[in-house]
Amino acid sequence: MLPRNPCISHRLILRGRPFRIDPSKSISHAPLSIITATRIGEPRMASPSSKSGLSASPPTFSVKGAHNSLLLEMTGLGQQPASGRLLRGLTPYLDEQGAAHVFLLTERKRREPWAEDPKTVVAYQELVHWERGKAGGIYRGVCAKGNSLKRNDILQAFEYEPLDLIEWAARRLEAAVVSSHTPLSLDIQYVEKPWGREGWYTGIEARGVSRVRSASGTTELPYALGMFPVPLIGEREDPLILLKTLEPLPEPVYGDLYLEVHREKWETYVVLDVDPEAWPEGQGCLRAGLDAEKAREFEKEFGRDWPDKMAEGLKAAILGYETIRREIDGLLDQALEERGEDTTRPVAPELHMTLLSALPENLRDREAQARSEVESFLGRTTLRPGDVAVLPPGVLHSLQHGVRVIEFQTPTYERLIAMFAQKVLTQPHWDVDEAVALMEKAPYIPPQPQVLEESGEGRVERIVDFPQFQVDRVQLPLNSALAGRTEGQNRYLLLFVTKGKGELLLPDGETHFLEPDMAYLVPACLGDYRVEAISAQGLTFLRAVPALSPFGEQEDTSMTVDEVLERTW
Ligand SMILES: [Fe+2]
Repeated sequence: MLPRNPCISHRLILRGRPFRIDPSKSISHAPLSIITATRIGEPRMASPSSKSGLSASPPTFSVKGAHNSLLLEMTGLGQQPASGRLLRGLTPYLDEQGAAHVFLLTERKRREPWAEDPKTVVAYQELVHWERGKAGGIYRGVCAKGNSLKRNDILQAFEYEPLDLIEWAARRLEAAVVSSHTPLSLDIQYVEKPWGREGWYTGIEARGVSRVRSASGTTELPYALGMFPVPLIGEREDPLILLKTLEPLPEPVYGDLYLEVHREKWETYVVLDVDPEAWPEGQGCLRAGLDAEKAREFEKEFGRDWPDKMAEGLKAAILGYETIRREIDGLLDQALEERGEDTTRPVAPELHMTLLSALPENLRDREAQARSEVESFLGRTTLRPGDVAVLPPGVLHSLQHGVRVIEFQTPTYERLIAMFAQKVLTQPHWDVDEAVALMEKAPYIPPQPQVLEESGEGRVERIVDFPQFQVDRVQLPLNSALAGRTEGQNRYLLLFVTKGKGELLLPDGETHFLEPDMAYLVPACLGDYRVEAISAQGLTFLRAVPALSPFGEQEDTSMTVDEVLERTW
């Protein structure tokens, strides 16, 4: 049995046990009927205010259709209030009209804080269907940025079959249908990095905006979530847990990530693949924390002052390396400019290697020596597929080349760069002083996931329990299933498949295929779901859920090496 923890909502179920189908969840499609489009009285509601200062107007028209449906239009809106909130606010009017299905067409304008030019105003259109019913009903919608649908075309489609209006619009716009009661399939968005690339599932930045996909097309994540955020991610509309792959190049040194430390960001990695050419023995590497052996040497020499003394030694080694690095980067930039290459973009590995091999041998030797001096201070943890790394704020870390991981992290974009074995493109300086001052002066302890449940029907383990979110790993053998339930509020789920094949099933029979590298956002209000393994190798997936109320804790760092090594995260 599972421990009694209010944060856990799932159970493994017996193989082959039939799943309860709730017929009340399915939308009934009544036969087509003749529509009388009648202009009716304006709904009683306050004019919504807009944070962006754009003025809003009451509905410009409302039309009644089949199946007790009603189509409303509102124009001149900003980003707020969301269509879902507007519809809720119309409840007394909708009751009066006897409306079971309400469609709200809105014309909106907003700015995109993540864009390169955040002042640009973007026009977009939303069409949202609220199927009113028990427990808040079901919201479905489509959002068009750039190209929008004509009102007359929408009216015609509504008159033909109101309950197909959202699908019709999504097909026309090649946009995703978003529903409060369907998992949102997250598309991967690749972002090039000097050391390789990242694959973003929930990233929203100028460098790339993740997208939601359905059969009809894709929609940028902030627009998909913006139509009715409350049932999807909760009232506070917190930024999503950041889900992305880190895919370093297989080349040693060139494929190593920044040596960095975070002030606020909590990160966890789960290893997906280890490049067999980079690591023929199948074990990759993470540099993290201080080297335990070296720490013992410092402790022998300096007693309880070992952490500060070791940090001083590390800082001196990094500063020594930085001098050589600057010299090399200057020469490489010069060579790139001579070839007419852009020095502000990541360089292809082959070109980098060619240019590097043309540098004086003596300089390359000095670089290698200085780098290995820094590395002698750093802990080295081996990583195999399935291994987990847990990196709270303060842990110095650098994922090494050829190790592909999936990362869950708090959605903040801060970091302090202690060192990088190539030119840093995003900032002109390293943050050596601050990074060394902030870093936890201790060896890194590989985490031990906590087994929550284990039987012949599968295994559920908690891999991290961070203040802002938790991540569980679920392993199911063929034909086994896990039944779960989302908990409302802000408790959406992010699912990411690491191995095997499976299906995500909803009570109304809706099925979503699962295979490695697929990611879903399961809406907070979705309710019951079931995940079933359908391949011989079973199914393994990760499931992240935000905490209801994030908190922070300070730890005592005045410890001996053994005390540190005995500690668990
Ligand atoms: Fe990091």
